[in-house]
Amino acid sequence: MSSSEDQTNQRVPQHVAIIMDGNGRWAKAQGLSRLEGHRQGAKRLRDVIRWARDAEVKQVSLYAFSTENWKRPKLEIAGLMTLMATMLPLEIPKMIEENARMLVLGDISKLPWLARKALNRAVESTKNNTSVDVILCLNYGGQQEIVEAVKHLFASFDDEKERAEAFANLTPETLYAHMGRDDILPVDLLIRTGGEKRISNFHLWDAAYAELYFTDTNWPAYSENDLKEAIADYASRERRFGKTSEQVQGIADE
Ligand code: FPP
Repeated sequence: MSSSEDQTNQRVPQHVAIIMDGNGRWAKAQGLSRLEGHRQGAKRLRDVIRWARDAEVKQVSLYAFSTENWKRPKLEIAGLMTLMATMLPLEIPKMIEENARMLVLGDISKLPWLARKALNRAVESTKNNTSVDVILCLNYGGQQEIVEAVKHLFASFDDEKERAEAFANLTPETLYAHMGRDDILPVDLLIRTGGEKRISNFHLWDAAYAELYFTDTNWPAYSENDLKEAIADYASRERRFGKTSEQVQGIADE
C-alpha cells in the first residue's frame, strides 16, 4: 500500500472520507421525521459511489454509524439498522454494474443479524470489483481501532522479553500492521457535511495528513457538484507532510 506522501503531486484524492452529517436537520427543515432524513441520506450512497468513481477517486469511506451513535434514541438506532438491512441488498446489482467493491470498517458483530447479513452479502458479492472501493464504517471509532491494534500486538507475544522489545521498538508501521486491514489507503480528503467542524472519532489514524473540508450542505442534499468543489479545493492545496513549502516545490534541498 503506498503512503500518502507518494501522492504529494496527485490532484485527485485517492481516498475521500465523508462524515455524512445533517440528516436530522435536513428532515426537520422539510417537516419530515429524522428517520426519513436518514433514508434520504442512505439514497446518496448509490450516487456517491458513481461520483467518486467518475472523479477517479479510488476509495470513499462513509461514516454510517459511530461507536457513540449507540447513545441515540433506541427507535432511531433500530431505524438505521433496518435501513441497512433493507437498502443494502438493493444496492448490490448497481455496485456490480459499476464494478464497485464494498468493504467494512468497525465491529459489526454488535449489529443486528439482518444488518450483518446484508453487509456480508454486499461485501461477498462485490469482493472482486476494482473500479472504486466503498468503505462503510459501522460501529466504527478511530480511538477504539487503535486500542484494538495495541491489544492485538500485546497478544501476539508469549514471551515477556520479546513483548518488551517489541514495545521498545514500536513504530507507526508496526502498530498499523496489527490493525488487520491492508486494503485501506491513507485518507487524503476528509469531508464533513452539515456545517459542524469536527472529526468525531473518524479515521483518526488514516487521516493523520488528510486535508479537511467542511461544507454547510446537509448530507441528503449533497450533490456531485459539492463533491467536485471539495476535490477542486483539495487540488489547490499544498500537501507538505512535515516538509517546507520550498522542499515540496523542489526549490530547496530534501
Ligand atoms: C448524521 O446525521 C448521520 C448519521 C449518524 C447516520 C448516517 C447514516 C446514513 C446516511 C444511512 C446509512 C445507510 C446505509 C444503507 C449505509 P444526524 O442525524 O446527526 O444529523 P443532525 O446533526 O442534523 O441531527
